[in-house]
Amino acid sequence: MERLKARVKTITYLAEDILGYEFEGLNQKFLPAFTPGSNVDLFVESVPVRSYSLYNKYEDSHTYKIAINKDEKSRGGSMGFQNKLKAGQIVELSEPRNNFTFHGEHNDIVFIAGGIGITPILSMIEHISEQNWKLYYFARSEDKCAFAQYLKDKFDQHVEIILSNQAGNIQKRVDHVFQVHSRNTEFYCCGPSNMIEAFKSFQADFPLTYYESFVPEHEASTENSYTVELRKSNKLIEVVQGETLLDALLKNGCDVMHSCKEGICGACETPVLEGAVDHRDSILTDDEKLENKTMFPCCSSAKDKFLVLDI
Ligand code: FES
Repeated sequence: MERLKARVKTITYLAEDILGYEFEGLNQKFLPAFTPGSNVDLFVESVPVRSYSLYNKYEDSHTYKIAINKDEKSRGGSMGFQNKLKAGQIVELSEPRNNFTFHGEHNDIVFIAGGIGITPILSMIEHISEQNWKLYYFARSEDKCAFAQYLKDKFDQHVEIILSNQAGNIQKRVDHVFQVHSRNTEFYCCGPSNMIEAFKSFQADFPLTYYESFVPEHEASTENSYTVELRKSNKLIEVVQGETLLDALLKNGCDVMHSCKEGICGACETPVLEGAVDHRDSILTDDEKLENKTMFPCCSSAKDKFLVLDI
């Protein structure tokens, strides 16, 4: 996938530790369009690549807006970007991809967001025109609640902000949300792992549930040794116990795009032609995993001894 060049147009304070970055195309050209729920990888020299959700509505400005939270557990990404990015700077971005599609086909829509998980949800909200919708937005404190004022000013009656000291048990809170909305409601969730786990516990009874996780739900699969045929490149590679398929591909000179290396961003998606996959990503639905048409080599592996990829 080609990288896009873009300029940092604005940097905005959104909340404590959270800065907003807006990117525009160069030479009066617009960046490519994106759909709500999309994310992009951000490439800045000497900072590890990271993926960020786009929180704006593309049609409003033809720019990309992301929010970066200076996470104290950061492995160099968020902190590095906040230190390095300056207004006017030229950076590289991946083309937008969407692992968290907004459907918007039903009359009632519910969003559950936790912390920085508000970003893909905000983009979806900006696209709603007529339906009934409600946002339950969990934040640690008022100071850390990005977009709170904007949401109150623009969508007040649709938004319930729940601060940590009022939230209590997250499972109970999520239980309550599902109790007061019908099975015909579309539910979207993005937030920390305990929120995602609580949300997923309703998937069997509520058919229209969609979520995006910022943390991996499974460990990468590195237990097996196996052979992989790269059909287009006409190559065979060996993957040994202890390494991921992505490690083996890179070691063998295959330039596979990647970012999170944790099965959450979607950057390394690779088409599968033959062989069963041990899927460990947090992106594919159960049905998509069964279809076995695609995989994420940063975390998933062959189930057996042989796999054929369409690269
Ligand atoms: S690198 Fe992010 S899903 Fe593989």
